[in-house]
Amino acid sequence: MLKLPVYLDYNATTPCDPQVVETMLPYFTQHFGNAASRSHSLGLYAEAAVDLGREQLAKLIGAETQEVYFTSGATEANNLALKGAFESYAAKGNHIITAVTEHKAVLDTCLHLEKRGAVITYLPVNHEGLIDLAALEAAITPNTILISIMYANNETGVLQPIPAISAIARKHGVIFMSDATQAVGKLPVNVNTDGIDILACSAHKLYGPKGIGAIYLRRKSPRVKLTAQIDGGGHERGVRSGTLNVPAIAGFGKACELAGEFMPAESQRLATLRDQLQTALLRIPGTSVNGSITQRLPNVTNISFEQVEGEALMMAADKSIALSSGSACTSASRAPSYVLKAMGLSDELARGSIRFSLGRFTTAEEIDYTITTITAAVQKLRQLSPFYPSSI
Ligand SMILES: Cc1ncc(COP(=O)(O)O)c(C=O)c1O
Repeated sequence: MLKLPVYLDYNATTPCDPQVVETMLPYFTQHFGNAASRSHSLGLYAEAAVDLGREQLAKLIGAETQEVYFTSGATEANNLALKGAFESYAAKGNHIITAVTEHKAVLDTCLHLEKRGAVITYLPVNHEGLIDLAALEAAITPNTILISIMYANNETGVLQPIPAISAIARKHGVIFMSDATQAVGKLPVNVNTDGIDILACSAHKLYGPKGIGAIYLRRKSPRVKLTAQIDGGGHERGVRSGTLNVPAIAGFGKACELAGEFMPAESQRLATLRDQLQTALLRIPGTSVNGSITQRLPNVTNISFEQVEGEALMMAADKSIALSSGSACTSASRAPSYVLKAMGLSDELARGSIRFSLGRFTTAEEIDYTITTITAAVQKLRQLSPFYPSSI
């Protein structure tokens, strides 16, 4: 039996996998120790859970365990990376290169740094949502301390050419950071083959709990050094003070282990369901896909419906499908998506765009329901519209 609402907003957040919850539970009650309490067994038990979680995450991204530091999420990890690098590499320069389609956790941090004297280059993207590698290389100056380009875009799923970007960064001796929040757990991200020096990620995008994330910092060639943004007891080897959230770390670790196991089969399954959905929706006249369809996450498609308001479409779908017309953090503003606008969409078309993001618990039945419901809703809205030509 189909359970409503159908959830197709996995890029906003994912439910915890039941195995993740099971892993976490004992750390709230029985094994509640502080991972920094080395003087008794409760603390040591908690520390062992943190060590395991760190190992599980490190394995998923191809890192060494000592290169992984826990944070409250990817927003904090991005803030730490950008602000920490700006302070730590001040003697080298003050120039950071990023892209206009980054998440607000990067863009707003860059705005903050501009007020503190940073010079930021915001690379444009083409209509497929991709940056231009020649423009990236041309933007590098002797003052450039960091290149920050996301792995996968949250709204469109578009994948930037990460190994090519890191090769350019390395050639010029610039540290390369990637906000890989949407990629970790969905794709085989590997900090070494991808050439990433700093990586940000978050548990709640991969069936782990909310409020826990991590930052990866390369230890050798180059050794990345960031100035801590939270001072205190020196936890996480001084990179991020604060008592560790042991249950969340245990859950994050389990989520990473499961993601590694499920990834090959799951990405195939999701790509098939996503393609079925996309093909069916593109049969509706006046529709198009936003972003590259070859360089894209397997679970996402972002579709524009001409002459239809995304918000109205979601209402017309009777709230029986949980969808998003942009990223969760900006959808409250009702402004057209800056990501889609940067790709050349008009305000109107950007407003008529919907992100469909599938995940581990999405079924074929749910996709069929979505196709029928959205197709009917678009037709209904267009019939009501005095502007929509019957010829389209
Ligand atoms: C690409 C990207 N970066 C950063 C974040 C922020 O992550 P968190 O919710 O863990 O702070 C998100 C989540 O929306 C995201 O999609």
